[in-house]
Amino acid sequence: MNLNEFKKKAAWAALDYISPGTIIGIGTGSTVFYFIEALSTIKHLISGVVSSSISSTNLLKNNGINNILHLNDFNSLEVYIDSADEINNNMQMIKGGGAALTKEKIIAAIAKKFICIIDETKKVNILGSFPLPIEILPIALSFILNEIIKLGGKPKVRKNVITEHGNIIIDIYNLNIYDPIAIEKKISLLPGVVTVGLFALRGADIILMGTKDNVKIIEK
Ligand code: 5RP
Repeated sequence: MNLNEFKKKAAWAALDYISPGTIIGIGTGSTVFYFIEALSTIKHLISGVVSSSISSTNLLKNNGINNILHLNDFNSLEVYIDSADEINNNMQMIKGGGAALTKEKIIAAIAKKFICIIDETKKVNILGSFPLPIEILPIALSFILNEIIKLGGKPKVRKNVITEHGNIIIDIYNLNIYDPIAIEKKISLLPGVVTVGLFALRGADIILMGTKDNVKIIEK
């Protein structure tokens, strides 16, 4: 099983969802790497992109996509293409493995359509085997570690990672996320939390899942 091949298939299939003249939200990660390669083949057809991270911005430039627009200039986008660390049957996701969750969540919030491109290993029944990332203000570390333990999670500070916003990432292990919306709300309300990597209130609209045989399309 070559997961990169599955990711690539899903990423190229996302081209079918790009309308000429639109501005595309771009996620972050190894699956999005393939999408950026695919997008470069139709770059003359799109009006621009909004990037979710410095690494994606660099990849876009390396692929000749230079019309990179500022997130703050938009409150609506036609489509957002990104991957996930896990996604359940209700299209709710864990994201943030690449530490880009804050911009990713803002782009997801303004996108009319979130298309999630994954290899088949990302599809799960219950979220939480992948540790849940949260971005927090450094000053809140001690408080938040304690609150997460009270919730039954095992928090670990991600080593050697400072986000683009100068914050730190905690990965939460051992959470069985039976009610993703409740957990998203609960953790988001803790003072000092910037972003929770649970995308449950705003999940995906379409999943493109690369498998050995084909790309499965799952719609809400
Ligand atoms: C980055 C993300 C990514 O979408 C997620 O980590 C999946 O990455 P990959 O495509 O490399 O498996 O949320 O913050």
